[in-house]
Amino acid sequence: MKEQLKQILENARKELESTVDSKTIEDLRVRYLGKKGELTAILKQMGQLSAEERPVVGQLANSVRTQIEDIIKQKSERIRTEQAALKLASEKIDVTLPGKDMAVGRAHPLNAVLEEVEEIFLGMGFDIVSGPEVETDHYCFEALNMPKSHPARDTQDTFYISDNVVLRTQTSSVQIRTMEIRKPPIRIISPGRVYRSDTVDATHSPLFHQIEGLVVDKGITLGDLYGTLDLLMKKLYGKDTQIRLRPHHFPYTEPSAEVDLMCFNCGGKGCPMCKNEGYVELLGAGMVHPDVLRRCGIDPEEYSGFAFGIGLERITMGRYGINDMRLLYENDMRFLGQF
Ligand code: DAH
Repeated sequence: MKEQLKQILENARKELESTVDSKTIEDLRVRYLGKKGELTAILKQMGQLSAEERPVVGQLANSVRTQIEDIIKQKSERIRTEQAALKLASEKIDVTLPGKDMAVGRAHPLNAVLEEVEEIFLGMGFDIVSGPEVETDHYCFEALNMPKSHPARDTQDTFYISDNVVLRTQTSSVQIRTMEIRKPPIRIISPGRVYRSDTVDATHSPLFHQIEGLVVDKGITLGDLYGTLDLLMKKLYGKDTQIRLRPHHFPYTEPSAEVDLMCFNCGGKGCPMCKNEGYVELLGAGMVHPDVLRRCGIDPEEYSGFAFGIGLERITMGRYGINDMRLLYENDMRFLGQF
């Protein structure tokens, strides 16, 4: 029996020695020291021993138990420290490593210029209103003095959804919608998307943006139109900027004008950018046609107004010297990152 006990101690020592995880240690503890363990099995046979042998073997058995317990304790502790060290090593943070670059977003050039324009008009007491992009023929054309047979329709290649529903080709539709529900004094701008069946190139896109403007009140003159646009352009392009009004024709204004901006590249002298004109075409404008006012229930004898439609892409390209409109839609980060 003494031999068996020594053997148990020897085996336990060996097995525990080669153990590397706490789960195996626990298994071994049960196997050697547990209620159904090897040591207990030996102790159960003690009754067969003589009265002199019993205390000697008992003492030996106790000492074997204590020794195994000690080994288990030491081993467990060693494993715990080893694992803690491993964990610490794997979780260590190297504070000297360079940090991750944080990408900071910024406004798209079209939005940046739109925001600027909105601020300028808000400062002049204008409201910002919006209208639907899917529009009826009535608001897009008819109410603007462009009946179905009107030749001016040909200049705007329209996407038709049905006979009487279109993707709006111009934000001028919002003029009508506004005058139907608001009475003078009216001072609004209406920015938004417009659609024309154009082929994509450096200056055309089937989707682009306009900013419509409308002012109706007593005694509004062409001078007010000039003054408003002159101020806008000076704020956008600098105080030396000059505009000029050139006679034109739009069915919904009388008189009508195209507004040109003095070429910011050559200052009016003429250069390749302005095709030697000294000026670049910027927007359409005019005094609201009396028929348009009347149709919206506003008496043209009492009130007059001016309106304009600015191409947002055009003023953005001028503002930043962008020479290809497609750059504004491709969302190439190398391009957008420059603004
Ligand atoms: N709707 C015109 C266009 O798309 C621009 C325009 C011209 C708007 C004259 C107006 C205006 O409000 O009075 O080309």
